[in-house]
Amino acid sequence: MLKNNTPGTAEPPASAANMLEKGSGTLVSKIKIHAQKMFAASRGSHDWEHTLRVFQLCERIGAAEAVDMEVLLAAACLHDVGRGYQDTSGGKICHAEKGRELARPIIEPLPISMERKTNILHCIHAHRFRKPPLPGTPEARVLFDADKLDAIGAVGVARAFQFAGEVGARLHNPDVDVAKTRPYSDEDTGFREFKVKLSKIKDGMLTREGARMAGRRHAFMAAFFDRLQAEHRGEA
Ligand SMILES: [Fe+2]
Ligand SMILES: [Fe+2]
Repeated sequence: MLKNNTPGTAEPPASAANMLEKGSGTLVSKIKIHAQKMFAASRGSHDWEHTLRVFQLCERIGAAEAVDMEVLLAAACLHDVGRGYQDTSGGKICHAEKGRELARPIIEPLPISMERKTNILHCIHAHRFRKPPLPGTPEARVLFDADKLDAIGAVGVARAFQFAGEVGARLHNPDVDVAKTRPYSDEDTGFREFKVKLSKIKDGMLTREGARMAGRRHAFMAAFFDRLQAEHRGEA
């Protein structure tokens, strides 16, 4: 059942800045605790578990790149905190822009340089596939790739159908030109998502390790959707 997603629940706790400055633990672990609270009412396709998978991918890809890991992981924790606004607005609000706005009061009081704060906010703003700005720092490029990897492969297929279920889309419709269908409609199927977005992801990766992993995930996903269409026609 679709969880209620009220935009207001994504607001950072009023005391977030104080608690981040004082409590125990690393900067990233403290941000992680606060970020998780902002996903209390999130939909399954963009929930806290997605953020945790992206976090792990950032650790892996970031290890192969020259990055500021603390900046990268802080941004990973917060990159989708604006997602609830996009979902409840039917896509009218850009969650990357909203996420930067929500993250700002958490990041600004931190005892780190202005340059690093700006970088964290840039990473959040630039992580989206469909909208500029392009990722302009090594950390933003790694977060971008990590986020895209979680949209393809076996996890990507699962998430595509999970999202289709959330918006009430049908299972599959071979009779419609997906280019003429609308997102957040009953034609926003897993196959539509594959054709419109997921099939193109591997060609837009920004890091070497991200591109390598994307190639493998894409091959699995493409084979799945070939099979889906064949089975839907009763041919397999
Ligand atoms: Fe996102
Ligand atoms: Fe994401």
